[in-house]
Amino acid sequence: MPFWAPDIGIDLGTDHFSLYVRSRGIVISEPSLVVLDRESKHTVRAVGDEAAFLLGRSPERLTAVYPIRSGMVSDFDIAELMLKYFIRKAIGVSYLGKPRIIVSVPCNMDDVNRKALTEAVRFAAGSKHVFLIEKPFAAAIGSGLPVYDPVGNLVVDIGAGTTDVAVISLGGLVVSQSIQVGGNKMDEALVNYLRRECSILIGTQTAENIKKDLATALPLEEPRSILVRGINQLNTSAGTVRLSSDQAYNAIKGPCAAIVKAIRWVLERTPPELSADIMRGGIHLTGDGARLFALDRFISESLSIPVLLARDPGDCCILGIGYLTENIQLVSPADKNATPGIRS
Ligand SMILES: Nc1ncnc2c1ncn2[C@@H]1O[C@H](COP(=O)(O)OP(=O)(O)O)[C@@H](O)[C@H]1O
Ligand SMILES: [Mg+2]
Repeated sequence: MPFWAPDIGIDLGTDHFSLYVRSRGIVISEPSLVVLDRESKHTVRAVGDEAAFLLGRSPERLTAVYPIRSGMVSDFDIAELMLKYFIRKAIGVSYLGKPRIIVSVPCNMDDVNRKALTEAVRFAAGSKHVFLIEKPFAAAIGSGLPVYDPVGNLVVDIGAGTTDVAVISLGGLVVSQSIQVGGNKMDEALVNYLRRECSILIGTQTAENIKKDLATALPLEEPRSILVRGINQLNTSAGTVRLSSDQAYNAIKGPCAAIVKAIRWVLERTPPELSADIMRGGIHLTGDGARLFALDRFISESLSIPVLLARDPGDCCILGIGYLTENIQLVSPADKNATPGIRS
């Protein structure tokens, strides 16, 4: 039996759970989803990919739980079950020494939520060594930014539940803001728009597909349209409407404006010498929510600053967590140069 379990890094997204094992790389990338039996609420039927598969096949008998909401633990017991399942799947259980674990969290998470999450991870892994790290810090490392240098880097991580904005310099967060607006709010805005303006009821999955296929943060020069199927609100029968890209733009412009407002809030509080670096180096977008069509251009035009979308925006956070897992002395409190902003 090996003695020490390998160190682990976890990107605990609202939508997506990724797990990195030291010296092995990313070994899990699955939905942050647990499926329970509708009757006996405590019987877990499946987790992650298997849960998504089951849910698609016999949804009437099952209850879906996303135990992370807006980056916070919303259901402690289920979150612990999910963590335990993924950790076992990644490294098994046959170790005497427990792993050290790094977990991503939104910026500005309060102490109560930090403690709840730390406890859930401790129970799930049986480990005392849990380190929380802010998502934009990890995402900045994952997108190759020089976070330990004396320059200002502005990172905006747009996930499903939150958008985290941070100015990072000298290995720490200088100014940061987390808002509960992300891809899910855009989906909700599309559901509401179609109900209000077209009298069609759709689910959030359909809305997410519309967002990816048609929605845009700026009006298109050559507008497009698609057919949307749903339930006609007036006679509760199946109904279809044609939705244009201009309508989809109008539906989601509120969440897009909220993201710009959060970035402006951070910029207004950034020391001038770091602002000058940001004006030169641009704003770095990470998180899969940043893939919304023309969102980079919308932010750039609103703030008159260049904006760069990371190559694989959804992977930046787990890649940064992975780097820290390989270099765990950077986050261990035993190290005198431990990164500011990281607490165990
Ligand atoms: N092409 C796309 N256009 C717009 N949004 C997208 C696209 N691809 C994924 N998303 C959205 O990105 C969000 C998930 O981003 P992710 O970084 O995985 O979130 P989290 O870290 O919160 O789990 C979801 O809301 C999803 O709908
Ligand atoms: Mg993410």
